[in-house]
Amino acid sequence: MLKTNNNSIKYLSLVVLTVQNAALGLSMRYARTRSIEMFSAAAAVLMAEVIKLIVCVVLVILESGSTRKGLQSIKATVVDQPYDTLKICVPSLLYIAQNNLLYISASNLDAATYQVTYQLKILTTAFFAVFVLGRVLKKWQWFALGLLALGVALVQLSSNSTPTVSTNMQEQSKVIGFSAALTACFISGFAGIYFEKMLKGSDISVWMRNVQLSLLSLPFGAITYMLSSGSSSRLLAGFDAFVWYLVVLQAGGGLIVAVVVKYADNILKGFATSLAIVISCVASMYIFDFILTAQFSLGTCLVISSIFLYGYEPKKSENIHSSLKV
Ligand code: C5P
Repeated sequence: MLKTNNNSIKYLSLVVLTVQNAALGLSMRYARTRSIEMFSAAAAVLMAEVIKLIVCVVLVILESGSTRKGLQSIKATVVDQPYDTLKICVPSLLYIAQNNLLYISASNLDAATYQVTYQLKILTTAFFAVFVLGRVLKKWQWFALGLLALGVALVQLSSNSTPTVSTNMQEQSKVIGFSAALTACFISGFAGIYFEKMLKGSDISVWMRNVQLSLLSLPFGAITYMLSSGSSSRLLAGFDAFVWYLVVLQAGGGLIVAVVVKYADNILKGFATSLAIVISCVASMYIFDFILTAQFSLGTCLVISSIFLYGYEPKKSENIHSSLKV
């Protein structure tokens, strides 16, 4: 019964992650290219952390059975174990940087290019799993990683030759967009592995771990906001209904990632996000006048095929699967 329940959560979380990923890429792009007063990306990231913290505190209280017990267990985990809480500082800081970089990337690249480039995080996740945690990858998985890099390169080159059509865009820089996306890929790989190791290496629940994560992300997020905007600007300047929807979408995505890491694994997460690319590419053609070239299509096909090849698992072997788990 418990297994069936866990399986339902696993597949449901993967479907929701796919839809969320596709929607987030497109929505971020749309929000950053409107001609109305521009909101601060750092403020949006900070607000997403506030929402995640509130939701996770509520979930911990529900898990504990009462408000008093919930708050007591938060104190016992977060305050009374300062060393453990400090260890969560690493992904907290990294995720704040990553989320800000993704906004920079979405401001400078079209939605589809941004999505495909960000898939390089599968490669960086493998890199950290192998070189930091000593995981072993099979030959075809290395081949798949090569295909992935080639696919992203094709997409990048095709986007350089594709004229930008929208007139509302702020000045864009492909170099800044790609640099931000690539840095976010490295952060995603490392922070993902680090968090999964912490989650699976202790009995602390996923929601409690996220309370720790968000609590520490708040000061980091606030500092990032203060550094990125002058003291004169209002925190919520430019926050209309669409920006709030985007903030909730990003916060929800973070919570879904936490569930996917707990109930599924990195391979399945890769499948979910690869499907998100297809959805976002097709939608991008209609929404942003994105021109689909043969080179872009080939690159996207390579990226998606590589993700499937990477996750290929011969029936009898359990090794590959476990080699990707942290
Ligand atoms: O793209 P990637 O899978 O690395 O995205 C991770 C996202 O999920 C980040 O925005 C991060 O803030 C969020 N996250 C979270 N809680 C976790 C793990 C990730 O909010 N436990």
